[in-house]
Amino acid sequence: MSFDPRSIPVDPAASAALARHGLEYRLLDPDDRPAMLAWIEAENRGFHHGRPREVDRDYDLSVASERRVHGVYDPAAAHPEVPVATVDGWPTGLSVPGGRSVDAWAVSAVTVSPTHRRRGIARALMEGELANARNAGAAVAMLTVTEATIYGRYGYAPAAKAATVTVDRRRTHWIGPDAPGRVQFVTADELREVAPSIARRSVARTPGEIDRWPGILDRALGRVDPDGDGARRVRTVRYDDEHGQPQGFVAYRIRREPDQPGFVEFDFLVAATDDAERALWRFLVEQDFVSGVRGLLRSIDEPLPWLLEDPRAVTVSDVVDHLWVRILDPVEALTARRYGGAGTLELDVADPLGHARGRFRLVVDERGRAEVERIQDADAAASGPGLRLGVQELGAIYLGGVRPSVLARAARITESAPRSLALADRVFAAERTPHLSIWF
Ligand SMILES: CC(C)(COP(=O)(O)OP(=O)(O)OC[C@H]1O[C@@H](n2cnc3c(N)ncnc32)[C@H](O)[C@@H]1OP(=O)(O)O)[C@@H](O)C(=O)NCCC(=O)NCCS
Repeated sequence: MSFDPRSIPVDPAASAALARHGLEYRLLDPDDRPAMLAWIEAENRGFHHGRPREVDRDYDLSVASERRVHGVYDPAAAHPEVPVATVDGWPTGLSVPGGRSVDAWAVSAVTVSPTHRRRGIARALMEGELANARNAGAAVAMLTVTEATIYGRYGYAPAAKAATVTVDRRRTHWIGPDAPGRVQFVTADELREVAPSIARRSVARTPGEIDRWPGILDRALGRVDPDGDGARRVRTVRYDDEHGQPQGFVAYRIRREPDQPGFVEFDFLVAATDDAERALWRFLVEQDFVSGVRGLLRSIDEPLPWLLEDPRAVTVSDVVDHLWVRILDPVEALTARRYGGAGTLELDVADPLGHARGRFRLVVDERGRAEVERIQDADAAASGPGLRLGVQELGAIYLGGVRPSVLARAARITESAPRSLALADRVFAAERTPHLSIWF
């Protein structure tokens, strides 16, 4: 990544808000190892993880060094060198409908020490990240969340879902086509060479996916701590197409009790083609001496049930609002994606924090390409079809994960002219259900 984490100015508003509580908002230098290690300690504690082992610290350090890392410090604390709150952020691509990506800012590692809760620290950090995102030129900010009640107040809304997909092995009879390529076991090191390219192409196929950073692939393939218990259980399989080109992979584990069949679990099935996706699913669900297969953070719209004689072999559960999106620049964001139908819509966007506030004209042509402009004359009367909505609602419909008319039924969007909602439903439709398959 070519991003210099320290290239953006420290947000003066966040500094001032924290200083009012006697706290210091500090941008960390990735080369300051003691400060980075204290931050990693605080972040692990904030998420209620155990104290990190050396191997985990080294991994966290390598990942955090590529990001913009902030800590909040209490000079009066017993250990003033350990931050009482953490956050990090970095610029990355977010896939949007149509196969392109929009410049986004990912926010992660949001924690506040239990000793310092509910005095506005999270708010200062979150507003600081929105400032960082804008300074980095991002059109949207985004995060994955532990609780769904925290981030709406900053303008984020759920935009892509994920679910657990469980398959009953006894009911599995494959009726889908045979894949023309082959599935084979490869070592994690072999897979690591081709994984970034497969992941890149896989991300581009699905709105809601974000660019993978190197560390997440190492972690998924069990290369971070190869002799650790978790990593030793990871099996890695690659799909090569009929020309011998790697097009997909899965990293999975089998849990098993003595004398019992095993249970396959995975959270990393990456496919650059439909053939690869089908072949890897088939490999997983046709294994012998297993009772079932469970995939985590899968799409709510998997084709798998249509590939089996008995679609009830597949259960979709634990559907979650996984990716939360916050639109910062409606012109850039709306121009980046492709649309499901032609038409012109005027969007009147409210945003209490100001970033996305305004009126915008979205003109979509027959090929689904958009031209978007800000309507400069604030007093101009609305002409033609349009929607009045908040920045959260704009984020929710942005990737096509929810229809505008559903939000209208929830009284969260109003149409400014008759039949605007029907048009908006057609225009904002995406060809693929948005989905995010990782935590970040
Ligand atoms: C979530 C967390 C970061 C909030 O930190 P905080 O400094 O106490 O939050 P603030 O004092 O800035 O509160 C900001 C607002 O969020 C609200 N809020 C904070 N935590 C909340 C929660 N868990 N659920 C719902 N609302 C919450 C506050 O009431 C406040 O609302 P207001 O601005 O409308 O008055 C903190 O509780 C934490 O570290 N939790 C554990 C780790 C975690 O879950 N991180 C989130 C990762 S996605």
